Amino acid sequence: MAEGAARTVQVADDDGLRHLEIDNPPVNVLGQALRAALAEAIAAAAADPGVRAVVISARGRSFPAGADITEFGKPPVPPRLPEVCNRIEACPKPVVAAMHGTALGGGLELALAAHYRVGLESLRIGFPEVTLGLVPGAGGTQRMPRIAGAAAALELMQSGQPVPARAAEAMGVIDLVVPDPAPGEEAAAAVRRAAADFARGLLAEGLGPRPTSMRAEGFADPAAYAAAVAAARARPAPSHLPAAARIADCVEAALLLPFEAGLAFERAAFEDLMATEAAQGLRHAFLAERRAARVPELAAASPRRVEVVGIVGGGLMGAGIAAAALTAGLGVVLVERDEAALDKGLARIAEIKERAIEKGRLTSAGFEAEWARLIGTTEMAAMAGVDLAIEAVFEEFEVKAGVFRALDAVLRPGAVLATNTSYLDVDALAAVTGRPADVVGLHFFSPAHVMKLVEVVVGRATAPDAVATGFALARRMGKIAVRSGVTDGFIGNRILSAYRTATDFLLEDGATPYAIDAAMRAFGFPLGPYQVLDLAGLEISWARRKRLAPTRDPAARYVAVGDRLCERGWFGQKAGRGYYRYDRGRTGEEDPEVLALIDAERAAKGIIPRAIAADEIRARALAAMVNEGARLLEEGIALRPSDIDVVMLHGYGFPRWRGGPMRWADHTGLRSLRRDLMTFAAAEPEFWTPAPLLLDLVGNGRSFADLDEAAA
Ligand code: COA
Ligand code: NAD
Repeated sequence: MAEGAARTVQVADDDGLRHLEIDNPPVNVLGQALRAALAEAIAAAAADPGVRAVVISARGRSFPAGADITEFGKPPVPPRLPEVCNRIEACPKPVVAAMHGTALGGGLELALAAHYRVGLESLRIGFPEVTLGLVPGAGGTQRMPRIAGAAAALELMQSGQPVPARAAEAMGVIDLVVPDPAPGEEAAAAVRRAAADFARGLLAEGLGPRPTSMRAEGFADPAAYAAAVAAARARPAPSHLPAAARIADCVEAALLLPFEAGLAFERAAFEDLMATEAAQGLRHAFLAERRAARVPELAAASPRRVEVVGIVGGGLMGAGIAAAALTAGLGVVLVERDEAALDKGLARIAEIKERAIEKGRLTSAGFEAEWARLIGTTEMAAMAGVDLAIEAVFEEFEVKAGVFRALDAVLRPGAVLATNTSYLDVDALAAVTGRPADVVGLHFFSPAHVMKLVEVVVGRATAPDAVATGFALARRMGKIAVRSGVTDGFIGNRILSAYRTATDFLLEDGATPYAIDAAMRAFGFPLGPYQVLDLAGLEISWARRKRLAPTRDPAARYVAVGDRLCERGWFGQKAGRGYYRYDRGRTGEEDPEVLALIDAERAAKGIIPRAIAADEIRARALAAMVNEGARLLEEGIALRPSDIDVVMLHGYGFPRWRGGPMRWADHTGLRSLRRDLMTFAAAEPEFWTPAPLLLDLVGNGRSFADLDEAAA
């Protein structure tokens, strides 16, 4: 094989076959340099009389996982991907795509522009563009339905979910599925070899290029095609997420318009959508999730090995964490305080697993294998063998300190000690052990087997490799980890507190809980703040308020409505009453008695209720979140604004398409946010005074986005 090298495409010749190997780690995204190299390499292959066929493959983990999302929203630098795809299709020699890993978005479009496709059995293909608020923009909406028909193409594009190679073969998108290589052999090399054999077979049979734009199998039944488009259009979608509807338009255009016109139609839809708030917010969310993993500790240290996790406390959280750890293939040792509590804890885990089986996410055999990795005990000594222990006992310092002392006595040297505390001081907990460097906070969210967020709380003494271990464990458990410093409530609950303070003030000033909830739902939260309180149980925050009462500033405004409800035993859904009445299941109804109770609180304070519009509710609630976010940044609790966004998206139901509170603030304009805060602060300076960081950004004409890249 003669070898030549380009920066992002490796070129090699093998007896008339030209291999173009894409080489842009880690996932071969189709950035500008790669596109230019590909276009050049295709032109060279087309012109070289010694080349009879071309194989396009990719090195490393995967065939291209898409366009380079970091280039989105910036002025495009040619060649653009549609043009590269067209050049591939126009190649006068057969072009075979050899795919492994995940061929997603632009990667799949590249493959569809090739004349034939070979894929490994473990390959998955998909169009995730819709999850970024976009349509495929490099011919995907035009080429895919020509092969697979409208129904299959629409399902793939509107769901955004990847499908396995065999499903792609059934759609006609893959010509040959080849078995995965034995362990030890590289997937990339195996599929490249299979594709080379396939290409030789084509040449032997005298088969030439087969441009997808000329194919029409997918148009064979125009009535069925039109029906699939109509059905896709009829699927309900909110108006702020127009991508799915535009996908249907594009797939319809594939049938109705000549190929070139269809491409132009698709490009126009792509560009329209790129400018929407949803596309910007969704892109921000995608990049923020990955940026969150860039923390100084991970650059400085490697994670410790974790195969067995110890969990102390099998309550709501402990059981959920155990279930998630078992799913991730880890061994679990669960310690409870007595046999009765242990039985309950194990039953909770079993219940989670049974539901997974019912939903088809777990097989009975899989359950057996997981259960065999679980040890339940009341003996702390059983923790001697674990690599990392998480305490999830009651939220009381002395209880947790007792557990930490007991763990310190039995854990092996080098094991990590983690706490799932929601609010308590991780440094103070670390100080009760003889190994504060091994102590880290791992703040999971409820239900822990479902919620993706974990705040990794870094104490004063926490060793970098203990932090790295927290991140690695979270990733293994399929979670998204965000670094937080030590503070009361870490990132998420600090912002939640500010949010609740703002809405409690509104409640006392004249809004009803129902109007506040409706205003926040209209913004995009799945539930309003009072619905969330009812769901979680009002007693949790009541206990915390009672704990903090002795240190509360007596001059600070305190809204006691929640206390009044708790004093009556109205703890929320479980109790049948909270801010709402639950006479008929989980859908709460407005409760005149709650409104009367709020009125009484107002009267006692001499507050004359005023009419408060939904816009003002949202303005205050969001300004409070962003201002608290700015304080978290000033204090160094959060590394960067986008980390705060990730926490709020994954832990608190902030609408993903808005990108998170800090990105929302940038979008709205920090100047207008400052104006709002100053207006609110005129009446209530102690809560509303703008954070100095915010003033600083406005003064310098900067945004939170400017801070995102700067950190770590
Ligand atoms: N554009 C730019 N960067 C991308 C990217 C893309 N389309 N896809 C992945 N990356 C980057 C990630 O930011 C990350 O960078 P980092 O290591 O500097 O943080 C790196 O590639 C690895 O991605 P990650 O998601 O951490 O790896 P994974 O193995 O968990 O998942 C994928 C791999 C491909 C499944 C996942 O990255 C993915 O879904 N990518 C997006 C695909 C997409 O939406 N494509 C459509 C664009 S048109
Ligand atoms: P829970 O009351 O449901 O469970 C606590 C469990 O700990 C009980 O099963 C109890 O028997 C056990 N336990 C108590 N003392 C023990 C001891 N000494 N040894 C062994 N087991 C002991 O509480 P939860 O909701 O699961 O919360 C646990 C922790 O997780 C708390 O710190 C809480 O703040 C935190 N947290 C809770 C949530 C949530 O939404 N509930 C979310 C994030 C974090």
